Amino acid sequence: MTCRVVVLISGRGSNLRAIVEAGLPIEIVAVISNRPEAAGLDYARERGITAIALDHKTIPDRAAFDARLAEEIEHQRADLVVLAGYMRILSPAFIARFEGRLLNIHPSLLPMFPGLDTHERALEEGVKVHGCTVHFVTDKLDHGPIVIQAAVPVRADDTPDTLATRVLAQEHRIYPQAIRWFAEGRLVNNHGRVNLKDDSTSQSVLTIGM
Ligand code: GRF
Repeated sequence: MTCRVVVLISGRGSNLRAIVEAGLPIEIVAVISNRPEAAGLDYARERGITAIALDHKTIPDRAAFDARLAEEIEHQRADLVVLAGYMRILSPAFIARFEGRLLNIHPSLLPMFPGLDTHERALEEGVKVHGCTVHFVTDKLDHGPIVIQAAVPVRADDTPDTLATRVLAQEHRIYPQAIRWFAEGRLVNNHGRVNLKDDSTSQSVLTIGM
């Protein structure tokens, strides 16, 4: 049975694009944005994917908004919910409802730099390695079980923008990979740690970019 995926976005949707173009064994049944003007919605429409704007400003109460969002996702009969630049904190009830089938991508090597402005903070700290992480979402922000990470070197002349560009290229590689593993039923949650079935070397859960 094909894995039915709903992608949640808020903005440009470059990760959405990478996921669509990776040719995964999934069906993207809907793209939902809390911002009606999100460029990613236009991209979804162009590709013939159901694109839904659910403006959070029309439902100011977070729990009520998330309940409405959950209803839409259930209506789409999603097996997996993918957060791809979805810039709203999710309520505990929403996370509990989809736990184990809710993935996020974060632009840092978690648990370093949860939250916003990760590239600025990485440069400020002078770390020599930075990157991105795909993880299952739990009620602790940017802290769920890690599926895959990609590391990039930090260069002496990097700015937040140049570093973000290098990290984003890796995001576009590891998110489709993580979704493929989920769809293939290869991700096993072992007490909060994710094991990849049939990966004796553990090589594939860490990738190094340039
Ligand atoms: C990415 O950097 C992602 O890691 C973060 O938000 C950004 C979304 O970019 N959560 P895009 O909308 O996928 O282009």
